[in-house]
This record gives sequence, structure tokens and C-alpha cells, in this order.
Amino acid sequence: MTARFRVEQLAVGGFDHNFSYLIVGNGGEAALVDPTGDLEVIRAALARESALKPQYILLTHGHRDHREQVTEARTLFPAPVLAHPEADIPGAMPLIDGQHLPLGEGTLEVLFTPGHSADSVCYRLDDDSGLFTGDTLFVGCCGYGDAAVLYRTLTERILPLADSNWVYSGHDYGATPKALLGEEKRHNPFLTCVSPEEFRELLQHL
Ligand SMILES: [Fe+2]
Repeated sequence: MTARFRVEQLAVGGFDHNFSYLIVGNGGEAALVDPTGDLEVIRAALARESALKPQYILLTHGHRDHREQVTEARTLFPAPVLAHPEADIPGAMPLIDGQHLPLGEGTLEVLFTPGHSADSVCYRLDDDSGLFTGDTLFVGCCGYGDAAVLYRTLTERILPLADSNWVYSGHDYGATPKALLGEEKRHNPFLTCVSPEEFRELLQHL
């Protein structure tokens, strides 16, 4: 069976080892996630592809270090910008929790995941091959934020997802640039902790 999507993880540097991502469907339909950092890295990734059909520029949240290159990226990758309705992004189209964005033969599911910020969003590939987590979840860690809200998001929205998803986070903070969600469920202390109190304690030491 042919995979529905290819994912390019782009080490764009930026504020703090940021990642941007290029997702490509079987027919060349493409989405760019969190264009930021070194525009030349993004430009080179796009140049490696032939016959791309830009569909979406997707933001995981409105923090500046995840969207520094949105305006410039749109000249290379002409597509609408989509973000959480509370994200302060001029011209962005508002996402709806649970909506599926068509991409080639599959879809990207939009998951509102507040906690690191009120406007945090994750995107799940519908074949459960990848989850774009922004600063909601890192390999081995998570983003700082409102402890109670983030604990609920991780336990109620992230833990139920399939182990087969690669965690594609917004920063290269882990032992590896990506990891399977199944491994994170077993080893990431922010996912293995058993109570909101334990989670709050861990978060305070970030
Ligand atoms: Fe952030």
C-alpha cells in the first residue's frame, strides 16, 4: 500500500531549533506547517519537489517563532493561512476543532489543544502516520503553559491517539528529532504522570 503522505521535517533554526514541515499528498497536494526560521531551507525543500500543489499554510499557534516566514513563504507557496480563531494572524482563515482538511487522498484532522497557549492546534494525518504538535508536545517533554489546561489536553486529546503517529513537534528539543507517539506515551514524563498535581510539579521545573 502506498502511503498517503510524505513528510519533510525542515530544520530551519530560528528562535530555538525550530522545525517547519512540508506535507505532500500522493498527487502533489501540499501543506506547509509553521513556516519560520531560515527561509532558504524552506525554499530548498520546495525546489526539490516537482509539481507541488500548495493547499494550506498551517500554524500550530500564533507565537512569533512559529510564523516568522509566513509572509515570505506565501510568495513561494501560494496558499491560504489557517490558524486557530484566537491566533492573532492578519488574514488567517479560522480553523474549527475536529474539521478535516482534504489533502490528496487523505485529510488532516484539526485538534484544538489549548494549554501551551489558548490558540494551540495539532494536526493529525488521517492514516495515523503523523501528528504535528507545535509546542503542545515535544519529544521527551512538552511546552510550558497553563498546567491544568495542558494536562487535560494531553490526557484527553493526545493520549487517545494511535501509537503509530510520529510526533512532529515545533522544536528539536528531544534525543531524536521525531519519535513515535507510542514511545512517548511510555517514556515522556509529561505523558506518563498520573495526576494533575504531578504534572504541575513537573511543569514548574521546565
Ligand atoms: Fe510557543
